[in-house]
Amino acid sequence: MTNQAVQHTCVFGMGWGDEGKGKLVDLLSPAFQAVVRFNGGANAGHTVCVGQDKFALHLLPTGVLHDNAVGVIGPGVVVDPIGLLEEIDNLADRGVQVIPKLKISHRAHLVMPYHKAEDKLSETSATGTTRIGTTARGIGPCYADKMRRTTAIRFIDIINDPQIADRVRELAEKRSTALSAIYGDNGGLDIEAIVRDVLIAKERLSPIICDTTKFLYETMDAGQAILFEGANGMLLDVDHGTYPFVTSSATGPHGIGSGAGVPPASVSRYIGVIKAYSTRVGSGPFVTELKDDIGDRIRKQGNEFGTTTGRPRRCGWFDAIASRYARQVAGATDIAIMHLDTLSGFDQVGVCIAYRCDGQTLTTMPADAATLQRCEPVIEYRPGWHENLRSVRRYEDLPQTARNYVEHIETLVGAPVSILGVGPDRSQTLLRGDMKDCIDVPEPASL
Ligand code: IMP
Repeated sequence: MTNQAVQHTCVFGMGWGDEGKGKLVDLLSPAFQAVVRFNGGANAGHTVCVGQDKFALHLLPTGVLHDNAVGVIGPGVVVDPIGLLEEIDNLADRGVQVIPKLKISHRAHLVMPYHKAEDKLSETSATGTTRIGTTARGIGPCYADKMRRTTAIRFIDIINDPQIADRVRELAEKRSTALSAIYGDNGGLDIEAIVRDVLIAKERLSPIICDTTKFLYETMDAGQAILFEGANGMLLDVDHGTYPFVTSSATGPHGIGSGAGVPPASVSRYIGVIKAYSTRVGSGPFVTELKDDIGDRIRKQGNEFGTTTGRPRRCGWFDAIASRYARQVAGATDIAIMHLDTLSGFDQVGVCIAYRCDGQTLTTMPADAATLQRCEPVIEYRPGWHENLRSVRRYEDLPQTARNYVEHIETLVGAPVSILGVGPDRSQTLLRGDMKDCIDVPEPASL
């Protein structure tokens, strides 16, 4: 990216997560001096290549893999400190030293083992519609403690509170008792191990726990560019997603203010990432889901299995109603369509252009999960393409039917498609419009 083109940018998911944000953030990172996570926790997951190694990152901002960028974990992120240390150590084993380039907000909250235990116990004891299908990473229970305030632990507490060991012990004991009372089981919590792990986290992470809000202001004042890396996806947003089958944070650009401490207005480019089809993991309404051979074929061709949990993802045709809604709420200035190559080989490809529900045709997203569950998709079929797209390097060289498909989505969703993914590799990325001036796509030979 040239200096004139540098602008604070947010990359975020417009679906139910797993849109391919990681590859895009990895591609963009060299042009930014800071890469910031502002929401979620270890429920996110993306695979990044380090040399010949593939590595699944859950908490670390992708920027830490690039020499130029500082990785920032903002105030809105919920951090499992032992999980974070494992990620840091695994990267160190592969020769990537993260600590000097990582900063954790002292305002961020700690995910404790009792949050993870509660997440698992409440899911396994739930039935039917009350089971959310969480990643069991303790995200919901941790955010609940954050809102409750008196039972939360922040990174600043483990640094400043001389009684932190006693406080952690007391909180863990109380939660263990509560879990046993509710579920007849405390989830195997070991109170003294919990206290010990917090002290280990304090010792090892203290050097990088700081006021990241101040750091980001200084970065902006110095004229350096910041990339905000959204986790999960707009349809999982706690306010705007398919509630209650959502995660517990603000997953779109609106989360930057609260989750990073930076006014969203300082960000000028919002890149919403979607796939050329739809996927979802966990429970919840999914109007275009294909529970047939076509769905299986998309799952196989797209390798649609979760990075965090390994669960097979539910697959379906592109949902223009849900994507347009996500674009509107998030204010996406650009759209990136990933996995276009996955749709090769279909005689026709479907796009959902409306929902049918209780005898009515809907073109906007219902707020109620039960209504959404009853919706049937109105699918418009378009001619597909059989060519393998993975070696295509220019948009103009895509088959005409693939370009028609992309341009149809662009019209339905209502923002320019500036980036297209045609394979897992960074080189397999096509750029349109002024995005060509913003991103350097590597040559395949460099891999
Ligand atoms: P939680 O965030 O673990 O509480 O899970 C809540 C819902 O969001 C579940 O349906 C999860 O499968 C889903 N979810 C959370 N994070 C991601 C993600 O990064 N990708 C895909 N689904 C996610």
